[in-house]
Amino acid sequence: MTAALTTSAGALVRRCARQQLPAVRAAAATAIQQRSGSSTATFDSPFKGSGATKVPSFSKYKSSSGETPNKMVQYFMAGTLGAISAMGAKATVQDFLVNMSASADVLAQAKVEIDLNSIPEGKNVIIKWRGKPVFIRHRTQDEIQEAENTKWESLRDPQPDSDRVQKPEWLIMLGVCTHLGCVPIGEAGDFGGWFCPCHGSHYDISGRARKGPAPLNLEVPEYSFPTEETVIIG
Ligand code: FES
Repeated sequence: MTAALTTSAGALVRRCARQQLPAVRAAAATAIQQRSGSSTATFDSPFKGSGATKVPSFSKYKSSSGETPNKMVQYFMAGTLGAISAMGAKATVQDFLVNMSASADVLAQAKVEIDLNSIPEGKNVIIKWRGKPVFIRHRTQDEIQEAENTKWESLRDPQPDSDRVQKPEWLIMLGVCTHLGCVPIGEAGDFGGWFCPCHGSHYDISGRARKGPAPLNLEVPEYSFPTEETVIIG
């Protein structure tokens, strides 16, 4: 009886073992696959409609030294390129400003100093200032009287002689006709001042427009007398 029971129990154990063997084998295979697939396994595409598409693993291309060294290279490249770009922009702006600024010869002409002793009474001198002619007239007492006694209120560009000169004996003005820009001729015209031959404008001994198409008086530039003998124009 005991022997029969022992035989039956043994058979039962063997049958159970036989039934569980495939499941145990499958579990072992899955474990092996999971272990070996951590670096090379593929996985299903997350995109819709991809079906059975398998996306390969790129883990073997990952840097073995981690993210920090890569970021340092990126920061270095970005900083270097930024510095080079800033230097280029600075050089461009600098060149542009240098080109736009006045050249040395133009700056030298910004102000002109004239020795008044070289201009005798009753004479004109023409100088070039900023590319334009400037008339300097050393007026006589008669010319000063005539300029001051003119009824300026009725002129087309009304202006008293005292507004056009700092010293009555020195009349200084641009030699550019206010009609279309010709250079008038001195000691000519109907009023003893200047005459523009281009279209026949007449200016008096104060440079005021008196006749012809010129609409305005000859322009008076900025000037000053640093000493009794010199004038600076500009
Ligand atoms: S430009 Fe002098 S009159 Fe016309």
